Amino acid sequence: MRVLAKQDIEKLISMREVIALMEEVFSALTRGEAVVPERIVLPLEKTDNAILFMPGALTKSRGIGMKAVSVFPSNAARGIPTISAQILLCDYETGEAKAVLEGSHITALRTGATTAVATKYLARKDARNLGVFGAGVQARSQIMAHLEVRSLKRIMIYDPNTQKAAAFAQEVQSIAGSDCECSAEKDARELPPASDIIITATTSHTPVVEGCSVKEGTHINAIGSYKAHVREVDDAAIRRSRIFVDSYQHALKEAGDLIIPLKSGIISKSDIRGELGELVLGRKPGREWPDDITFFKCVGIAVQDIAVAEVVYRKACDQGIGLVV
Ligand SMILES: NC(=O)c1ccc[n+]([C@@H]2O[C@H](COP(=O)([O-])OP(=O)(O)OC[C@H]3O[C@@H](n4cnc5c(N)ncnc54)[C@H](O)[C@@H]3O)[C@@H](O)[C@H]2O)c1
Repeated sequence: MRVLAKQDIEKLISMREVIALMEEVFSALTRGEAVVPERIVLPLEKTDNAILFMPGALTKSRGIGMKAVSVFPSNAARGIPTISAQILLCDYETGEAKAVLEGSHITALRTGATTAVATKYLARKDARNLGVFGAGVQARSQIMAHLEVRSLKRIMIYDPNTQKAAAFAQEVQSIAGSDCECSAEKDARELPPASDIIITATTSHTPVVEGCSVKEGTHINAIGSYKAHVREVDDAAIRRSRIFVDSYQHALKEAGDLIIPLKSGIISKSDIRGELGELVLGRKPGREWPDDITFFKCVGIAVQDIAVAEVVYRKACDQGIGLVV
């Protein structure tokens, strides 16, 4: 069995490759070439912390395994990451374990890459201004991925931890280069009217985006919440949007951003226009008019992780990288 650390994985795969891979994964899901049982969420009593066990298989490209991901928002107070994860990859023929990979880097890569694919298909081609809620690990990879699919001129960041937001904006500025102006905003309300693309990548339980101030033509990617009672966008944003999801099955089980307005009758299931794979395969139209507001909800599914882990594993074998035990 091969053990691959974060540093190994960083050397073996780029964001650009993962973006292309996510187009394949979501196409496979839509074509029925993926098995993705609902994940088991093991909550820790009296906290917001949970460990998620996520099995999945890609039947055509023959990848199978499971990610165990800990989501511990309380880690922020300890100064350690909210998310830690491991991916177990098995042999498709024998079922034997063939690799264990550090999973937090792959999680961040594939989540950023997935919304970048949504942006590629749903955002206006001339989208230049990005508003990001959250200055954490996922926000970073969201921005890295979006720099690959749109020529961004301005990136605005809001996080209630203003010191963290300021340091993050400086870091993003050094990555994005001088053609793009990056800033930390003190007021969350500044972002929606000034953004062509909005990303929510927060641990907030309540809406961070005021839908009434989102301008026409905006595309919104919401990735933070994964619980039925938790949401990052409000009713107004949902009511005004053409809605898309990563997976119908999983979004309807876990996405409070949609489940709450579905329950209150703000939207009905038919308002969910399509899955990402249907957009990639051209089976559903995405944005129809420049003024449309589009909304993509990503809860995250295991086959995203399995697909990246498989590619990393094959490259590691070819290049003799990792520890064989
Ligand atoms: N959809 C997916 O596939 C996927 C994958 C990984 C993580 N996630 C989720 O993404 C979220 C963020 O994860 P992370 O690893 O970046 O965590 P993180 O702790 O590194 O960052 C979260 C940030 O959100 C900020 N925040 C909290 N409330 C806010 C608000 N009202 N407005 C703006 N910012 C706010 C926090 O201050 C923190 O800086 C988590 O909820 C996690 O479960 C989703």
